[in-house]
Amino acid sequence: MHFLENFEPELTVESPGRINLIGEHTDYNMGYVLPTAIEKKIIFKFRRNNSPNICGVYSETYDTGFEVDLNNIAQSEVEWENYILGVVNEISKRTDKLRGFDCTLQSDLPAGSGLSSSAALECGLAYGLNELFDLGFTKMEMVKLSQAAEHTFVGTQCGIMDQFASVMSEEGHVLLLDCRSLDYRPIPINFHPYKLILLNTKVSHNLASSEYNTRKKECEEGVAIIKQDFPEVNSLRDATFEMMESVKGQMPEIVYKRCSFIIAENKRVKKMTRALAVDNLELVGELLYEAHDGISKLYEVSCPESDFLVEFSKSNPKVLGARQTGGGFGGCTLNIVHENAVEEFIVSAAKAYLEKFGIELEPFEVRPSKGTSFSKN
Ligand code: GLA
Repeated sequence: MHFLENFEPELTVESPGRINLIGEHTDYNMGYVLPTAIEKKIIFKFRRNNSPNICGVYSETYDTGFEVDLNNIAQSEVEWENYILGVVNEISKRTDKLRGFDCTLQSDLPAGSGLSSSAALECGLAYGLNELFDLGFTKMEMVKLSQAAEHTFVGTQCGIMDQFASVMSEEGHVLLLDCRSLDYRPIPINFHPYKLILLNTKVSHNLASSEYNTRKKECEEGVAIIKQDFPEVNSLRDATFEMMESVKGQMPEIVYKRCSFIIAENKRVKKMTRALAVDNLELVGELLYEAHDGISKLYEVSCPESDFLVEFSKSNPKVLGARQTGGGFGGCTLNIVHENAVEEFIVSAAKAYLEKFGIELEPFEVRPSKGTSFSKN
């Protein structure tokens, strides 16, 4: 792209991906989640380009770029462009201070792997433009406008967890976030002598966005049914198993399964928080296995590849627990593995996975890391 020839950035923004320890699909049900940012991230470089309205965006990782005209922001046929365009659009709705800019990005965050490269893209851009043009948005406003961008331009009716974790995380902690009040508490985690190992299945089923929106609708259907008898229930966060039993006859089986998972998953977040407080790593591991079971059988957002890897982990006594992390239909499994057994675990999992699916597994260690940061050049 033309602007790359003498590109002298004014600002660098580092925007991380995230894992979620537990609390999957609870965010849009107004429940609890326990995510943290990881070291893998997208690095943005920005400069103002003196144009009133023309912006250049170029991905070094994928060697592709495009132009944005601030006077004519429209959805694109190219999926990743919509994350950028969506954010520019949301910012333009809120301020008239945006002007032409150029930006490059570079990523070591595998896309479509359940690590929220999408939130990293949205929030990193919002953060950079906020600094570059002194827009005055708070972190929370950037989180929310990034989520809105995903709703409007990408079409996934996502909750708030990913954007929140990417921006707000703290090193060495997971965030206990209440997705209704947006109150949060950083919880220190120290798994020593265990490590957090991700196994990337390298499958990302493109059903993900439509199935995601379907799950959200099924939960809303569940709430509407429960509400007929229990008017105080406004989201699955407010529902209990006792309520579910009493309305079971009125609920389609599939809706019953979805709602049961969410109610149990919310409880698991609380149990996990207590387990972390007393360093009960066995319980941490058990909760992961239990959660995956629900993800697979009740919420039905796993896939044969991640189910296989979680089962494989169960056969290794040096692994305390495992589950698929993120929105689902592929991506990564998160495993808690004893430091002495990491090498052997990775090698054996990769071998078994290759034999079964013909896919090279991508394993890596992750550490709870800080949220978005920037430096002026
Ligand atoms: C995706 C969404 C999040 C959350 C997770 C599932 O990552 O973006 O809001 O719902 O799925 O927990």
